[in-house]
Amino acid sequence: MTEIDTSQGTFVKVCSLDDLPDVGAVCVEIDGHAIAVVRESSGAVHAIDDTCTHENISLSEGEVEDGEVECWLHGSRFDLRSGAPTGLPATRPVQVYPVKIEDGDVFVGADPMNPSATGK
Ligand code: FES
Repeated sequence: MTEIDTSQGTFVKVCSLDDLPDVGAVCVEIDGHAIAVVRESSGAVHAIDDTCTHENISLSEGEVEDGEVECWLHGSRFDLRSGAPTGLPATRPVQVYPVKIEDGDVFVGADPMNPSATGK
């Protein structure tokens, strides 16, 4: 597993930019933890917990639109930058991880930017 150390901590290579849909997400794992790597229409890439905080559903299977991902089961939406739920029934945020793009590869930081979001 390729890693880079930065002032923001350790980042792990999770996939290539080419592995991502133009708009959408893929699920990757870091140390057994499922993370959704999401590209929105602006081209920005985000990394959030893959598991919906409402029930055990993969958010990487949801729709990506307007800076949010929507859980396909009951329609909760999560802000890709903050992890905050923006639509019920989920009320708890998902964790958000820092992302770096280097030479066409996507690296995700191991430490969440909003560690108080405990997910499920
Ligand atoms: S499982 Fe995601 S909104 Fe219900």
